Amino acid sequence: MKVCVIYDSVTGNTKMLADVIEKKYAEILTENPEEADVVFLGSWTDKGSVSEKIKAQAEKIHGKKVFIFGTCGFGGSTEYYEKLYERAAAVLDESNEIIGHYYCQGKMPMSVKERYVSMLREHPEDKRMQASLQNFEEALAHPDQNDLDRLSEILDALKLA
Ligand SMILES: Cc1cc2nc3c(=O)[nH]c(=O)nc-3n(C[C@H](O)[C@H](O)[C@H](O)COP(=O)(O)O)c2cc1C
Repeated sequence: MKVCVIYDSVTGNTKMLADVIEKKYAEILTENPEEADVVFLGSWTDKGSVSEKIKAQAEKIHGKKVFIFGTCGFGGSTEYYEKLYERAAAVLDESNEIIGHYYCQGKMPMSVKERYVSMLREHPEDKRMQASLQNFEEALAHPDQNDLDRLSEILDALKLA
């Protein structure tokens, strides 16, 4: 049994999840996806979907067991995580078998907060913007230890190694 972890992480959030996976399967890791029985495919969320880089990688995966993971700025909604998972899964062809998925919130760059703050300065009553700013502040703490522990538990339940 060989495991390969393919991921894209610009600011390090998704890498934190990838590190948990790589540590768990250190003994059976391969860098060659061709050689792997199980591929862990991870991405940050770019405009509601996996990154272009991961889209391109996913198209090259055939006949594998695949576990999808990722982070996104918008947290606190299981429905949103499920939607992201479905979009990521749709990038894979049907020769693959999806064996699980995991999403959690990830901090966003300060430039995002600055945009919210400047919009709120113009429209202080904008409820959507207020919620976005609150979500931004909450995201700063993620992924946290609890997020990483939950991933670790899901991996244990897969019983791969
Ligand atoms: C250009 C851009 C687009 C983004 N689009 C979304 C999005 O549609 N939904 C979302 O929840 N987060 C979005 N985010 C937030 C990132 O997905 C989030 O901060 C993620 O944890 C970053 O992961 P990384 O540190 O592994 O790069 C976006 C961030 C950037 C920079």
